[in-house]
Amino acid sequence: MRFVSASDYEQMSRKAAGVLAAQLLLKPDSVLGLATGSTPLGIYQNLIAWNREGMIDFSRAKSVNLDEYCGLSPEHDQSYAYYMRENLFSRVNIDPANTHIPNGLAEDAQAEGAAYDALIRSLGGADVQLLGIGHTGHIGFNEPAGEFIGPTHRVELNPKTIEANSRFFASMDDVPRYAVTMGVGSIMYAKKILLAASGADKADILYRSFFGPITPQVPASVLQLHRDVTVIADEAALSVIREKAPEALA
Ligand code: PGA
Repeated sequence: MRFVSASDYEQMSRKAAGVLAAQLLLKPDSVLGLATGSTPLGIYQNLIAWNREGMIDFSRAKSVNLDEYCGLSPEHDQSYAYYMRENLFSRVNIDPANTHIPNGLAEDAQAEGAAYDALIRSLGGADVQLLGIGHTGHIGFNEPAGEFIGPTHRVELNPKTIEANSRFFASMDDVPRYAVTMGVGSIMYAKKILLAASGADKADILYRSFFGPITPQVPASVLQLHRDVTVIADEAALSVIREKAPEALA
């Protein structure tokens, strides 16, 4: 586990984008595990700029996204398929056929999950999986639960997550209640994990995830068992770690 500190959101975004850019430079046909939410937006803006400048090339890259809301079509402006098109895929030279996102409209969520995990395996797993972290400690949409769920599966969203995500919808009632998410096993299958976090509201959960007990009540805590995790976070998000475990940031 390594922690990389950044002064603010912009620097965090640049540093995390640097890791993904280096991955592509070293292995042009990398499988990038991608994430949505507000945290990765700055990362994607840097990747778009560097692609435009000819610094990085997505022509041989492939991607797998973490999750999708149930019931939203890829055309819905709050679907994660739409988000990825708007914020990255349509603005870099990636082949859309090489980008993969769980199907939120699948009638049989279990079959969709199994097919998605088979796809991830057939690609050899993500070379690097980008993650944000929710206030509940969720990664992807793996919410606090009685047990870790390994495969890609359908999940009922936590009320805190629905509230956090309602800022993107006309009202709380419009936020989908279910999602399809890579399971904890699907995420842990990635060769490297890159978790990005910004803001004081993430400081407590970041500390609990990496310095508290490994428990499905804090889903991100499972990352303590992964052998190649890099956390890039700004000082606000690192403030509790800096106070309680400063040696980790030395
Ligand atoms: P955020 O979401 O980047 O919008 O804070 C993170 C997450 O829910 O994983």
